[in-house]
Amino acid sequence: MPPRARRGDPSRVTQQTERADYPRTHAEGDMTANETGAQAGERTALITGATRGLGLALARALAARGWNLIIDGRDANRLRAARNELAAATHVAAIAGDVTDPAHRRALAVLARGHSGLDAVINNAGALGPSPLPRLLDYPLDALADVYRTNVIAPLGVLQAVQEELKPGARIVNVTSDAAVNAYPGWGGYGSSKAALEQLSAVLAAELAAARPDVRVYWADPGDMRTDMHQAAFPGEDISDRPLPEARTAGFVALLEGGLPSGRYEVAALAAPEAVGGGRAP
Ligand SMILES: NC(=O)c1ccc[n+]([C@@H]2O[C@H](COP(=O)([O-])OP(=O)(O)OC[C@H]3O[C@@H](n4cnc5c(N)ncnc54)[C@H](OP(=O)(O)O)[C@@H]3O)[C@@H](O)[C@H]2O)c1
Repeated sequence: MPPRARRGDPSRVTQQTERADYPRTHAEGDMTANETGAQAGERTALITGATRGLGLALARALAARGWNLIIDGRDANRLRAARNELAAATHVAAIAGDVTDPAHRRALAVLARGHSGLDAVINNAGALGPSPLPRLLDYPLDALADVYRTNVIAPLGVLQAVQEELKPGARIVNVTSDAAVNAYPGWGGYGSSKAALEQLSAVLAAELAAARPDVRVYWADPGDMRTDMHQAAFPGEDISDRPLPEARTAGFVALLEGGLPSGRYEVAALAAPEAVGGGRAP
């Protein structure tokens, strides 16, 4: 999101991690009738922050491809609307909550277990921080801590919570930004949080390469998109020249259904598996 002006076995990772200890039969949430009825061979993706923006676009794209979905978001009304729309296409479980809340993350893990595990975890929910973007020397530190809680701690917390639900060949996608690797003035809070997410992803990939070589870890930059977050980054500006998030879903499908190795990707440069004649069997 550049400034406009310039233009292993995860269950064995550590004993200190969050686990979902809820009874297997107790799933909290607002769900369709079939949400726990995943059949053998079906694929299930957990997408955080799927009520609007990129998360909702990804949910729609995966639903159209037959993936079962587990989705969340803090706004229960928006989440219900998303769930109702997606339920016309696939099995979808929706639970309102904040990814920074450990209890919510445990509830997501319970849903994952109810689906007989996860083929994909997409850590999409993210926080921009204050708008207009403050310079670092003026950055309110409480607000910075909130950004880090959402963009760094929570994605790892989600993975710790669901680690025992990762099916063979599961994909982990942590959504990052070019602000993680470029020094854009004003983007120090958000950008440094995404940089931390990227390093966390890289180390996780290295750890899982030994413990769970079947699992791939991707840190994926979607590029600029016309979303609420992007508008907040450029308050009062016309962002209609930015592509809609739907333009980026093919690249995420390539990561989820293709055979790319773990690593950092700019999804705009990736094509869906069928476009290049390859891909992982469903
Ligand atoms: N837009 C861009 O140009 C751009 C560029 C590069 C990277 N990204 C990254 O792409 C991802 C999606 O961005 P976006 O532009 O689609 O953002 P967005 O329009 O602000 O949507 C964010 C989504 O995440 C949910 N969410 C936010 N905080 C949450 C929390 N604490 N717990 C649970 N859900 C939460 C929101 O719903 P609620 O508010 O109801 O919780 C919403 O569904 C983010 O990780 C962002 O950093 C975006």
